[in-house]
Amino acid sequence: MFTVAAQSENLLIKLRDAVWHPTPASMRLLALLGVITNAGIIVSGGVVRLTASGLGCPTWPKCTGDSLVPTSTPHHSPVNMAIEFGNRTLTFLVLAVAVAVFVAAYRLRSRRPALLPLAALQPLGVVSQAGLGGITVLTGLHPATVAAHYMLSAALVLAAVALHTRAGEGDETPRPLVRPGLRRLAFTLGVVVVALLAAGTIVTGSGPHAGDDEAPRFGFEIEQVARAHGALAWATVALTIALMIGLRRAAAPGAIQRRAAVLFAVELAQGVIGYVQYLMGVPAVLVGLHMLGSALMWIATLQVIFALRDRGPRADRPAGDAGGRRVRDTGPPEPPDPGVADRSGTTVPA
Ligand code: HEM
Repeated sequence: MFTVAAQSENLLIKLRDAVWHPTPASMRLLALLGVITNAGIIVSGGVVRLTASGLGCPTWPKCTGDSLVPTSTPHHSPVNMAIEFGNRTLTFLVLAVAVAVFVAAYRLRSRRPALLPLAALQPLGVVSQAGLGGITVLTGLHPATVAAHYMLSAALVLAAVALHTRAGEGDETPRPLVRPGLRRLAFTLGVVVVALLAAGTIVTGSGPHAGDDEAPRFGFEIEQVARAHGALAWATVALTIALMIGLRRAAAPGAIQRRAAVLFAVELAQGVIGYVQYLMGVPAVLVGLHMLGSALMWIATLQVIFALRDRGPRADRPAGDAGGRRVRDTGPPEPPDPGVADRSGTTVPA
C-alpha cells in the first residue's frame, strides 16, 4: 500500500518536472503523448458513432437538462450516455496533455523557440475541437460537421507529429536528403492521403453509422462514394510503391526507406479492412479498426514526409543522430542528386 502511494507520488513528481523543468528529451516524450492522445480521440469518437451514442448526452456543454454529468432520463439509454460522456471526459485528458505540452514548450522557449508555436496549436486545436463537437451535437449530428470533426482531428495529428519531429532534431536549416523529384512525389502522396481521408468521411456520412437513428445523411449512393474512396486508396498504394522504388534507386537513407515500408504495410492492412468491412455491410468492430488504421496511416505518411530532410542533431545529442533516426545509415554514399544538399549543407548543382 505504502509502496503504491510512494510510487504514485514519485510519478507525479516526475510528471511535474517533465512539464515545469523540461529537458529536450522530456519535451519529446510529452510531444509523443500529444500524438497518442490526438490519434486516440479519433478512435474514441468513432466508438461514439458506431454505438449510436452521439446523442447519448442530448445537449452540450451539459449532458442532460441542467446536469453536466449523465442523469437518468427515459429517452436515452444509460450505456449510450456513458459512452458519449466518456468521450467528452477524454477530451479533458487530451486538453490536459495539450496544456502540459504548451507549458513545457514555453518553459523551454529560450533553448528551443521553434517548438512554442507548434505546441500552442495543441490546446488551441482541442478547444476548437470541443466547440465543433458541440456544433455537431446541436446540428443533430449532421454528416458535414462529423466529417469536419474528423478532418480537424487529422490536422491536430499533423501539428502533434510536427512537434514530435521538431523536438527530436536540431535547428539547422533543413537539408533535403533526397532529390526534388522524390520530395514532390512524397508531398503528392501526402495530398492524396488527405483526399482519401476526406473521401472516407463522405462514405461514412452516406452509410448507416450516423451516430443516431434520426441523424441526417449526405444522400449519396454508398456504392459510388465507396468506389471513389477505394480508387483514392489504390492511388496512395501506387504512389507509395513508386516512392519506395525511387528511394531504393537513389540509395536514400535507410531510415526513410524503412518509414516508406511501414507506410506501405499500414496501407495494405487498412485497404484489406476497408474492403472486408464494405463487403460485410460495415460491421461496427471493423469500422472502428478502420478508423484506428486511418489515424495510423496518416501518422505513417507524415513520418515519411518529415524524414526527407535533416536539421542536424538536437543540441543534447551526438552528431549523426537526429530525432532518434540515424541519417544516411545504409549503403554506399548517395550519388550527388540534383539539388540535394551534401553533409556540409552545400547544395550540389544539377
Ligand atoms: C487504404 C487506405 C484507407 C484509408 C486511409 C481510409 C480511411 C477512411 C476514413 C478516414 C474513413 C472515415 C471515418 C469516419 O469519418 O469516421 C473511412 C470510411 C470508410 N472506408 Fe476507408 N480508408 C481506406 C481504404 C478503404 C477501402 C479500400 C475501402 C473499400 C471500399 C474502404 C471503405 C470504407 C467504408 C465503407 C467507410 C465507411 C464506414 C462507415 O460506415 O463508417 N476504405 N475510410
